[in-house]
Amino acid sequence: MKTEFSSRLGLIAATVGSAVGLGNIWRFPAETQENGGGAFLLVYIICVFLLGIPMMMAEFSIGRAGRTDAVGSFHRLAPGKKWWLIGIIGIVASYTVLSFYMVVSGWTLEYFFQSLTGNLYTQVDGVAAGSESFKAHMNDYVLTDWNPILFTAIMLVINIAILLGGVRKGIERIANILMPLLFLLLIVFAVVSLSLPNASQGVEYFLAPDFSSITPRVVINALGQAFFSLSLGLGALITYGSYFPAKVKLGPTACTVALLDMLVAILMGLIIFPAVVSFNLTDEAMAGTTLIFVTLPEVFTHLPLPRLWSSLFFLSLCVAAITSTVSLGEVTISLLIDRFKMKRRTATFAAMVPLFILSMACSLSMTGVDRLSIGGMNLFDFFDNLSTNILLPAGTLLVCIFLRLGVPREFLQREFSNNGTIKAVYNRAAAFSVHYIAPWLILLILISPLL
Ligand code: TRP
Repeated sequence: MKTEFSSRLGLIAATVGSAVGLGNIWRFPAETQENGGGAFLLVYIICVFLLGIPMMMAEFSIGRAGRTDAVGSFHRLAPGKKWWLIGIIGIVASYTVLSFYMVVSGWTLEYFFQSLTGNLYTQVDGVAAGSESFKAHMNDYVLTDWNPILFTAIMLVINIAILLGGVRKGIERIANILMPLLFLLLIVFAVVSLSLPNASQGVEYFLAPDFSSITPRVVINALGQAFFSLSLGLGALITYGSYFPAKVKLGPTACTVALLDMLVAILMGLIIFPAVVSFNLTDEAMAGTTLIFVTLPEVFTHLPLPRLWSSLFFLSLCVAAITSTVSLGEVTISLLIDRFKMKRRTATFAAMVPLFILSMACSLSMTGVDRLSIGGMNLFDFFDNLSTNILLPAGTLLVCIFLRLGVPREFLQREFSNNGTIKAVYNRAAAFSVHYIAPWLILLILISPLL
């Protein structure tokens, strides 16, 4: 008997767990800031509805109809053809994402730990208090050889422990506990941040779109962010779809997951932008990684009980990261179990142990080990760029092509409507998007660097 999620709630929690991750908390605010605030948010929301939800339904349907791993499902739906190679690309991509993602998740664990012990809030000798001190800490925690590696390794061990538990007792159970906790923590943070002085200016920056700042680049970045955030393009949702019972309604499930995922991204915006404006932190402080690891700790120092807030915040980041990394790990594990008939135990170790080496290499490449660079980029940035700019859109595009050429045209309708039992307009609309809109827009992302 093929494993299935045990309940509808558990299935949603696990899938939301995959979608909600560092992409929402670490990447989304930075992308919003770099792409013009409210306008980016608006385009992002449109991308989620127009392409994200339909593509999510499409990936679910491949997994549910194939009833096996991301490679085998293509094989089963189109026997004798080479479409299963799309699944192989997914496996490769899941490793490139995991190797840098695991490193960042290690940083979040380290920040959690350093907040608990209070180290993060001791001033570093010889530098000014405030952001200089937090930058020095970041250097120490993130860029000093062995420190980040240790925490990355701990995260890997936690992932292995969960994955050894399997779909129901591992992934689903942990998501059932951790996801509500994450939402609760983020809501508390949003309330605190929105009650700071001048919060409304930050809210305005985040929510009020300035239409003149919408450029092709903004659209492309929003689309890329939507795909990453919804875990599209590398088989994670195909794998989870294969654990869906046959009667699950794909449309409502994808909508629920996408809306909750968007809610977390929006909550994050409502946490960060008011706080940054309220404490008058400069634009420079808001760039990318430093936003979370330097700017936010500084914000916490303005609140009563900074260590408590800081620990809770970095704990939520760890939570978000873990439920996403397990979904990425499960792609390969499910392949090893279904296709190569391995026991879950063997499969888990076989899939996850190579990641020790890959993520250590990524981490070390940040700390300036010269050998670990490719094409002028360190390994970390190389994997990050390769996955988000190339492998994810390519994976999604290939899924679209498969659904047009590899299976009968009615396949999607049949799957979306559970063999004709659900009659809803959105099923037609979603199939239309997957067949006719998504492929072209994704192609645009892929060729955009050449334009
Ligand atoms: N969606 C997760 C995030 O936003 C990351 C993630 C998990 C992912 N599984 C994925 C990204 C599959 C791409 C593909 O953090």
